[in-house]
Amino acid sequence: MQRLNIAFIGGGNMAEALIAGLTRGGHAGDQICVSEPQQARREDLARQYGVRCVEGNADAAACADVLVLAVKPQQMQAAVKGLSVHMKADATVISIAAGVTTASLHAWLGEHIHIVRVMPNTPALLGAGMSVLFSDADEIHKQRAEYVLNACGESLRVNKEKMMHAVTAVSGSGPAYFFLLAEVMQATGIKLGLDEAVAAKLAAQTALGAGKMLADSGRSAEALRHQVTSPGGTTQAALDVMYEMGLPAAVRQGVLAASKRSEELS
Ligand SMILES: NC(=O)c1ccc[n+]([C@@H]2O[C@H](COP(=O)([O-])OP(=O)(O)OC[C@H]3O[C@@H](n4cnc5c(N)ncnc54)[C@H](OP(=O)(O)O)[C@@H]3O)[C@@H](O)[C@H]2O)c1
Repeated sequence: MQRLNIAFIGGGNMAEALIAGLTRGGHAGDQICVSEPQQARREDLARQYGVRCVEGNADAAACADVLVLAVKPQQMQAAVKGLSVHMKADATVISIAAGVTTASLHAWLGEHIHIVRVMPNTPALLGAGMSVLFSDADEIHKQRAEYVLNACGESLRVNKEKMMHAVTAVSGSGPAYFFLLAEVMQATGIKLGLDEAVAAKLAAQTALGAGKMLADSGRSAEALRHQVTSPGGTTQAALDVMYEMGLPAAVRQGVLAASKRSEELS
């Protein structure tokens, strides 16, 4: 995989997260090409990661084994226009644009193109992303996509494209739900007399620790919650009020609303 020529259409935040992860993992900068309209951005990416930066999308696509479409959803159709004639026949096309379906990508690029659609999330910017892949293409294309995405976190596959709505609602929008919880915990800590910086640190480090326990302990969220809730203790007092005031129902309805909105947008 490290010998693949990887090209990015769009050199924004997500592209940079992937480029940083790939080069950190040993992928040579001269095997990565980025097409980006802004000259300052091209210079910046070339200087930081040793990647080749070009202005034209066709130049980037021409030698790519893997082509990552990393523009905003509303920029996608214009960005891929006329691109397929410049691409290698066996190239893998990865789209990370939220809500852009494989049917749209096939309509714009051609039915013969090998497409992998991905829903990443923001923690990818720090190497802790969760990406979910959907593709009807051959296994090799899914494996190439996993190689690129695992550079900035973890990845999973779904085998039905409509599952991307649920994925968007849980992991795509999910970081914001945890941010809201941290925001409220921090604000309440301040009300209880903590300094702002102390309250912020407590909320952030607690979120990180709880996340690590969820990810690494091999135990379910429910089991971990029981483990830290002593009967009659402080945690129990908090959770009783949260249940009474409908926090689980609010989260459930929120996740369902995100999924519905994702369906409406695509
Ligand atoms: N950021 C996230 O956390 C996140 C999470 C999930 C999914 N995504 C998806 O990732 C994709 C990229 O997001 P982002 O945050 O990295 O966006 P971004 O920072 O705006 O990057 C997009 C880049 O593409 C450039 N561009 C625009 N039109 C182009 C064209 N025709 N050809 C080549 N390059 C072009 C843009 O230049 P200009 O600035 O000049 O327009 C910009 O530098 C989006 O589709 C988004 O849905 C992002």
